[in-house]
Amino acid sequence: MENRLQWGILGAGTIAGTFAKGVARSQSGTVVAVGSRDASKAAEFAARHSIARAHGSYEALLADPEVRAVYIATPHPQHLEWILKAAAAGKHILCEKPLAMNAAQAAQAIDACRAAGVLLMEAFMYRCHPQTKKLLQVVRSGLIGDLQLVQATFSFNAPFDPDHRLFNLELGGGGILDVGCYTTSIARLLAGVASGLPYEDPEYLEGTAVLHPESGVDTLAAATLRFGNGVLAQLSCGVSLHQESMVRVYGSGGWILVTDPFLPNVDGGVSRMQAYLAGGKCPEMIRVESGPLYAMEADAFAAALAKGLREVPENPTGDTLGNMRTLDRWRAAIGLRYPCE
Ligand SMILES: NC(=O)c1ccc[n+]([C@@H]2O[C@H](COP(=O)([O-])OP(=O)(O)OC[C@H]3O[C@@H](n4cnc5c(N)ncnc54)[C@H](OP(=O)(O)O)[C@@H]3O)[C@@H](O)[C@H]2O)c1
Repeated sequence: MENRLQWGILGAGTIAGTFAKGVARSQSGTVVAVGSRDASKAAEFAARHSIARAHGSYEALLADPEVRAVYIATPHPQHLEWILKAAAAGKHILCEKPLAMNAAQAAQAIDACRAAGVLLMEAFMYRCHPQTKKLLQVVRSGLIGDLQLVQATFSFNAPFDPDHRLFNLELGGGGILDVGCYTTSIARLLAGVASGLPYEDPEYLEGTAVLHPESGVDTLAAATLRFGNGVLAQLSCGVSLHQESMVRVYGSGGWILVTDPFLPNVDGGVSRMQAYLAGGKCPEMIRVESGPLYAMEADAFAAALAKGLREVPENPTGDTLGNMRTLDRWRAAIGLRYPCE
C-alpha cells in the first residue's frame, strides 16, 4: 500500500466509476478517497468501490493528506477551477478530457501546475494503450509508405435530455468537446509521425456542424485539416448520430483500419488493427495484447510520477494545449461559444 499511488476521485459520476475500477486493476495505485458535492453520494460510491474514505465536498477531498493524486471527473466547465485548487493543495492531477473549455483556460491550468510543481495530464486514456503506441510504430516503420490522409470518427447517439451535460451549454455540451477532441488528438499525433515530431498542429482547418435547435450544442460536426507536412485529416464527431467510431490511416503504400481506436480493451485482452497493403490480397492483422484500458492510464501516470518526470510522456501538456487550440478553431468555424467563455 505504501508504495502504491494514493488516488482521490473528485466527482462521483459515470466515468469516475470506470476509473475507480481501472485503478483497482492497476499495478500501481489505490483509490483511498472520493469527494462528491453530496455526502451520501460519496458514501455510496465509496461503498461500491471499496474506497476507505468518502468526503462530502471537493474541498475536503483536497484537504485529505493521504491523497497524493487527484482524478478530476466533473463536467468540462468545472475542470479549470478544480485543477487550480488541486494544484494549490499540492496534489498531482489527472483531469478528464477536454482539460478545459478552451486553450486559454488550458494554458492557465498548465502554468499553475508547473508553478506548483505538480504533475498534470489530460486523461486521454487511449494514449496510454499499447494499440496506439503500436499504430505509431507501424506508421513510423513505413509499412504503409508515406502518410497522406487520416480519417477519424467518434460519434454516438444519446437520447436528447436538456439537463444532461452532453446537451447543456452551461455544462459544456456538444460533440466537439466531448468526442471530437479524440479525433483531433489522433490526427495531430499521426501527422507528427510524418514529420518525426511528437505531434503536429494543423496549418488549415475548416469545420461545420449541426447545432441542436433547442440547446445550441453541436450534435454532429465535421472538420477537414491540413498539416504543414501535407498530411490531410477528415474528422467527424457527434452525440446524436451513431457512426462507426474508427480511424483509417492512408499512406502511399497501403492503409490501416483501427476499428476500436479510442476505447480499446476496456477490460484488457487482444485488439486488432488491419493493414491493407498495396498488392496484398487480404489484410494483415496487427495484434496487440494489453491490460485494462483505464488501469494502464493510471499506471502510466504513476510511472511518470515515480520517475520524477514533469510530464507524462504518453500525453504531455504541450500536446494538450495544441489540441485545445485546434478545438478552439473547430468551434470558431461553427460559431459555438459557451456561456462561461
Ligand atoms: N475518458 C473517458 O473515457 C471519458 C468518458 C466519459 C466522460 N469523460 C469526461 O469525464 C467528465 C465527466 O463525464 P461523466 O460522463 O462522468 O459525467 P457525469 O456522469 O455527469 O458525472 C459528472 C460528475 O461531476 C460532478 N459535478 C460537479 N459539478 C457539476 C455540475 N455543475 N453539474 C453536474 N455534475 C457536476 C458530479 O459529481 P458529484 O455529484 O459527485 O459532485 C457528477 O456526478 C467529462 O469532462 C467528460 O468529457 C471521459
